Amino acid sequence: MSEEHCCADCGGPSRRHVIKGAAAVAAVGTLGLAASACAPKKTPLPTELTKVATVDEVPVGTGKSVMAGETPVLLAQPSAGQFIAYSSKCPHQGCVVGVDTENFLCPCHNSGFDFAEGIPQFGPAREPLTQLTCEVQGNDILVRG
Ligand code: FES
Repeated sequence: MSEEHCCADCGGPSRRHVIKGAAAVAAVGTLGLAASACAPKKTPLPTELTKVATVDEVPVGTGKSVMAGETPVLLAQPSAGQFIAYSSKCPHQGCVVGVDTENFLCPCHNSGFDFAEGIPQFGPAREPLTQLTCEVQGNDILVRG
């Protein structure tokens, strides 16, 4: 896998990115994705439905970062029984979006996206997160790209 960074447009992970990313990860605590602000570009989403979590891992009104194979994805349960998956690739400049208590949050430039539709709530992102196929089978949440 390539170590090429997603932030090529902005010159790679600068000291500012590292500091902001560390602050964002610290702010989101255990709910966040404990990774650097930038991730390798080439991490394809699974083409087959892949188990990424169980329903009890995503309480109503919350979001969670999980792995679909080697690719981070975002899950939310905005209302009881409604599970939604999104690509974690930020629509602004491609950084990996994490989670805080009320929004999906991009640590690179602090864009926030709502759990229900992935719509930007603040920050420079203007496009929503890309929604993925998400199914619940029994107690399992499955996702594919
Ligand atoms: S990459 Fe800029 S806000 Fe996400």
